[in-house]
Amino acid sequence: MNTTNTQTIPLIEVQNVSKIFGSVIALKDISMQVHAGEVMCLLGDNGAGKSTLIKILSGVHRPSDGHYMVEGKEARFSSPRDALSAGIATVFQDLAMIPLMGISRNFFLGSEPTVGWGPFRRFDVNYANRVTREELSRMGIQIRDTGQPVGTLSGGERQSVAIARAVYFGAKVLILDEPTAALGVKEAGIVLRYIAQARARGLGVIFITHNPHHAFPIGDHFTLLNRGRSLGTFAKSEISREELTSMMAGGEELDTLSHELAEFARTDAIAGAALAEAAREFEEEAGISHGTQHQAQAGQAE
Ligand SMILES: Nc1ncnc2c1ncn2[C@@H]1O[C@H](COP(=O)(O)OP(=O)(O)O)[C@@H](O)[C@H]1O
Ligand SMILES: [Mg+2]
Repeated sequence: MNTTNTQTIPLIEVQNVSKIFGSVIALKDISMQVHAGEVMCLLGDNGAGKSTLIKILSGVHRPSDGHYMVEGKEARFSSPRDALSAGIATVFQDLAMIPLMGISRNFFLGSEPTVGWGPFRRFDVNYANRVTREELSRMGIQIRDTGQPVGTLSGGERQSVAIARAVYFGAKVLILDEPTAALGVKEAGIVLRYIAQARARGLGVIFITHNPHHAFPIGDHFTLLNRGRSLGTFAKSEISREELTSMMAGGEELDTLSHELAEFARTDAIAGAALAEAAREFEEEAGISHGTQHQAQAGQAE
């Protein structure tokens, strides 16, 4: 049962945040909010300030000016670890995974479960394998072998392991920095589907992309950055895909973009189908797990 009031207090809010590096104004006067169960897309071209903003949210940088609130309280993070313990998980582009290690080893990287004690303490392989398999299957990912090296997974699968891991360790906010940038059309559709899964499980998601055609099908709100300034935040009902695209492109690049539109349209068809499928699965899952709240520390066997 969802008893939290998600309407009034945002999980994350920045008010008039600026960030200056020496003489570079990376961000100026940015305001945005993210609520539980919603996807906020942060859009902007290279150099717009997207990564700088999420580095503030994830505790890497302190804002030069303005306010950063987490669940209504001023946040004072001095490291990404502080942000993580406040429930803000960031999946950076390099993912912080070890390619040669297996999926379940990577899933528990930094929080290894152990069995035995004293000199006999060791990584609890069975527990790790079971939880990894369960958590991935909750996200709709079936894996044959949890010992399979992460480096042999596709880009989309690696992103999905990172997302499932953040959800399992109790993240309230999931920040994804350009998770679809390096992916092909089909793989990008898969990642969009996992973003939908995280949202359906009540997380607030911040999805960074420079591709409005990835953002549009999944986003509830869109904040557009341009050279460190905000062009505004729009609810999905307030903006069309075309408006989003032309605001991003700033007009003069529309020629190049129209050339790419055919491929984008295909992306959307795949993402749309994947989202419809995710929605169906969630209706089923919601029916089953309504009374049994997800336990972040899921130590108990069912
Ligand atoms: N640590 C830093 N020191 C100096 N300038 C920086 C630093 N980080 C980012 N910038 C500058 O801030 C601007 C925004 O960068 P960034 O946030 O990485 O943009 P985006 O992620 O949207 O491509 C760029 O001009 C970039 O060069
Ligand atoms: Mg960036």
